[in-house]
Amino acid sequence: MRYSKKVMDHFSHPRNVGEIEDASGVGEVGNPVCGDIMKIYIKVKDNVITDIKFNTFGCGAAIATSSMVTEMAKGKTIEEALKLTNAAVAEALDGLPPIKMHCSNLAADGLKAAIIDYKKKSGLPCDNLKVEHSCCGGCGAAK
Ligand code: FES
Repeated sequence: MRYSKKVMDHFSHPRNVGEIEDASGVGEVGNPVCGDIMKIYIKVKDNVITDIKFNTFGCGAAIATSSMVTEMAKGKTIEEALKLTNAAVAEALDGLPPIKMHCSNLAADGLKAAIIDYKKKSGLPCDNLKVEHSCCGGCGAAK
């Protein structure tokens, strides 16, 4: 299996690893294909993601895609960040081998789950946003 240079770079030097203690939102998702877990923390100020960190119990491709999604989401508005798809993250890494595409689900879904959590905590409408395999089950669901 061949990985792109960008995947190898983000896997070997992942950006934004860790936790944010006073996070505005935290998202946790599990990958149904392999059972791996992803946690993403976001700090939001004036509707903009000012800081973002992740922790994953996942494979190399999950680490690389999470690292990339944190770079792509930082500085974006909530609306812009919600448009980041798994496919866009994989594309930004110059692709993933087909059997590893499922790993990219954790990254974008984890971000979406963190945004839902932020909206719930801030009393903002979360517009029926939903993340499959998230521990919160999506907008309006009990944790
Ligand atoms: Fe589980 Fe990649 S094998 S996220």
